Amino acid sequence: MKFFIRTYGCQMNERDSEAAAALLRQHGHEQVLNEADADVIIVNTCSVRSKAEAKALGKLGILASERRPGRLIGVMGCMAQRLGADVFEKVPGINFVIGTGSLGLLPRAVETAAGGGGPFVDVGDLLNGSVCTSAHVYDNQQAKAFVNVLFGCDRRCSYCVVPFVRGRERSRPAEEILAEVLDLAQHGVREITLLGQSVLSYGRKGNVWSPDHVSPRGLTEPFPKLLEAVAAVPGIRRVRFTSAHPSGCTPELARVFATVEQICEHVHLPLQSGSDRILKMMRRGYTVDDYRRAVERLRQAVPTMAFTTDIIVGFPTETEEDFEATRAIVEEIGFDNAFVFKYSPRPGTLAAEWKDDVPPSEKLKRNKILLEDLDRIAMKRHQQKRIGSIQEVMADGFSPRNRKMWSGRTRDFMTVVFEPPAGARPGDFLNILIRRATPQTLYGEVRP
Ligand code: 5AD
Ligand code: SF4
Repeated sequence: MKFFIRTYGCQMNERDSEAAAALLRQHGHEQVLNEADADVIIVNTCSVRSKAEAKALGKLGILASERRPGRLIGVMGCMAQRLGADVFEKVPGINFVIGTGSLGLLPRAVETAAGGGGPFVDVGDLLNGSVCTSAHVYDNQQAKAFVNVLFGCDRRCSYCVVPFVRGRERSRPAEEILAEVLDLAQHGVREITLLGQSVLSYGRKGNVWSPDHVSPRGLTEPFPKLLEAVAAVPGIRRVRFTSAHPSGCTPELARVFATVEQICEHVHLPLQSGSDRILKMMRRGYTVDDYRRAVERLRQAVPTMAFTTDIIVGFPTETEEDFEATRAIVEEIGFDNAFVFKYSPRPGTLAAEWKDDVPPSEKLKRNKILLEDLDRIAMKRHQQKRIGSIQEVMADGFSPRNRKMWSGRTRDFMTVVFEPPAGARPGDFLNILIRRATPQTLYGEVRP
C-alpha cells in the first residue's frame, strides 16, 4: 500500500515517523510524498499543548470527512497514547491508533485495517515499547540523523504531559547507541543529534554502561562520556543533543564542549520562566541564578556558545512582575532564538488543578512582547558576531521558502540561506560569508 505520514510535534516525533516509515517499507509498503496519492495516511501527533492536539484532531476530522473509499487513516504519537480508543469517538472513521510504546505494531495495524478488521488500538506497555534503531531507518542517502538515547521523563514539571505520554525515564545502553552511530556513519551520516526529553540525565538510571564510565575528573557522568564516544566515531563531524536542563550543565559537560571539536557550540536549554516563584510552582528544580550559572559555565568553556530556549507565558498566577523578571533574564542571557508558548492546562498534570487565571488576552500580549524582545536580541547578536564572518555550513538542500536557494545550518544552529554552488549536494560542508540577517535567518555567499 502507499502510505503518507504527517508529523506534528518535536524531534522525538520526527524520529518516530522516520522509524515508522522504515518499518512500513520493510513490510513492503511504499512511502509517497504526496498525501493525495496515499492509501494509508498516518498522523503522528503531539500532546504538549491543547493547540497541538486541536491541530491534529482538526486534520484527522478533515481526512475522515473526505470519505475516500478504501483509504485508511491511522493515528500515532503522543495524543494517540493519551487518548487511546477515545480517538475513535472524537473522530469517527479512524482505522487505527498506535501509542508511543507500540510503534512496532504499526505494520500489523495497517494490515488488520486493510483486511477489513479493526478498529485497531494499542497503547499498551509504554515502558517496554519497541525501539526501532536508525540502522533500519536510514536506507536513503542522509547526512544527518537523530539517535534516541533516553526515552520518557522522570521530572515532574507541573505543567507537562510528557511523562504521561512517553513513560518513565529509561536510557539505552551505550554500546547499542554507539553501534547505531557507527552504522549511520558508515552509511554517510555526518551529523548526529542525540535525543532525550532530559538528555543530560542519560545513564543515571537503569542503564547498562561499560565499567569505564567514570570521567577523568572522577565524576560519574555518563552523558559527557557518551558525547565524547559518539564524537570519536570515524566519519562523524558534528554532534548535537536536545533537550538540556541546567542541572546537567556540569564542569564535566563544559570540559567536553571545550575539548571535543565535533560537539557543536549550541545548547537548547529550556528556561520556562525568569521568576523564582513561578519556577518553583513549575517544579523545574532550579532557580534563575542556577540557570545563569549553568550558562556562564558553558560560556566560559566556549565563549561563542549559542543558547536557545523555551518559555511559557501566562502560567497560573504569573504577575506582571514575574513576566518582567522573565524579560530581564532573557535580555541578560542573550538568547539566539527561543520558542514562546502560551500556557495551556494539560489533563492529569498538577498545574491543571490550579486556576488558569491569566486571561488569554494577557497571555497573547506577553507572548508578543517577548517575541519582540527576542527578535531584537537575536539581531544584536547577529550584528555582533555573525554578519561579516565566515561560517561553516552543512547544506540541507532546497530552502523551504525559495526553491532557487538552499539552506543549511551553522555549527551554532543558525539557518543560513545561500545560492548553491554547481554540483552541491545535501550534506556538503561549505564556507559561507554572512552578508545580512533577519532574526531567524542568515543570508550569505559561498566562499572557496
Ligand atoms: N502549556 C504551554 N507550554 C507548554 N510546554 C510544555 N507544556 C506546556 C503547557 N502545558 C512547552 C515548554 C516545553 C515545550 C516543549 O513546550 O516550554 O519546553
Ligand atoms: Fe514531543 Fe512532547 Fe509533543 Fe510528544 S508531547 S510530540 S514528546 S513535544
